[in-house]
Amino acid sequence: MIDAMEIKITRKETSGLKDVVLENAAFGRHFCDHMLVANYADGAWSNPEIMPYGQFSISPANAALHYGQSIFEGIKAFRMAEGDIAIFRPHDNWLRFNRSAQRMEMPSVPEEIFIEGMRKLIALDAEWVPGMLDHSLYIRPFMFAADPFIGVRPSLTYTFMILISPTGPYFSQPMRIYVEDQFVRATPGGVGFAKTAGNYAAAMYPTNLARQKGFDQILWTDAQEHKYIEEIGVMNVFFVVGNQLWTPSLESGTILHGITRDSVITIGKEMGLEIREDRITVDELVEAYKSGELREVFGAGTAAIISPIKELVGANVNMQFDVDSWTVSPAIKKRLNDIRYGQAPDDYNWMVSIY
Ligand SMILES: Cc1ncc(COP(=O)(O)O)c(C=O)c1O
Repeated sequence: MIDAMEIKITRKETSGLKDVVLENAAFGRHFCDHMLVANYADGAWSNPEIMPYGQFSISPANAALHYGQSIFEGIKAFRMAEGDIAIFRPHDNWLRFNRSAQRMEMPSVPEEIFIEGMRKLIALDAEWVPGMLDHSLYIRPFMFAADPFIGVRPSLTYTFMILISPTGPYFSQPMRIYVEDQFVRATPGGVGFAKTAGNYAAAMYPTNLARQKGFDQILWTDAQEHKYIEEIGVMNVFFVVGNQLWTPSLESGTILHGITRDSVITIGKEMGLEIREDRITVDELVEAYKSGELREVFGAGTAAIISPIKELVGANVNMQFDVDSWTVSPAIKKRLNDIRYGQAPDDYNWMVSIY
């Protein structure tokens, strides 16, 4: 095990925090003073180093640039009511990161580097963690192939890094979502369950087409028939139908095993909702909408938190929702936030203190 004390720290001389208004920090734009870097070579990881956030150079022949051997995670840390700072379910992200690594033929990252490195990094930049509701510190661990070699084969060297960034909500308004029936995000046997860069690259063109039509994001459907619901660009999707909470099952291997998804299911059960994890067809959603049983639709993800959907439109779909009248998803969001901001007991041991 790498003792957290062995992480070499080089401090930034002057903090950049004075140039950032935390209340207004939009997602992904501002980075804290420090970052963590560890290198993998000859079958082993180096001890991580924490250094000032800044540019670094890589070879133009870097294998990740050419063939996309690159994975990442998205995690959040919250300023708790008692003044502590705690990370939400980071071990689940660590496990998912290593599942992505395996699928992309990359080395796994030890818990000590991933979790202890993150804690130490956040502790150093603790002043950057916002305290306002819906605001938090976004944590971006990532790993990419580092070989300067353009032959197609798994890289022999890798770089693991963690960036941290203060953020507010990803979507501040209820979303308009397009139900995709032409393009495909993932296929069974592919890499849909992995959080790998190419999944997001491949989604950009269709998502941009949807944006041009006035939509915020795409709701993906299955690759073979465009019949079953999958997930939204950066979130899993939920439907409140009567007293049930529906969400696509993970069995297809084509969607991300969302940690917010898992938390919403836990909270839904706690609230007495019947959970349906299943293959869900577009047609049965249309039926549930027509009969008035489909009450609420929302996305769930680390960046998006719980994001209401006010409109679902596609080839044979045209649904509008009065988001202001909803009760179920706001209650789920409140329960999640109460745990994350330390307003309620951490019944599920989801919060990991950075100290
Ligand atoms: C494609 C995709 N699906 C779902 C999610 C939600 O996962 P999580 O709740 O773990 O952030 C994300 C965001 O991380 C995502 O990128």
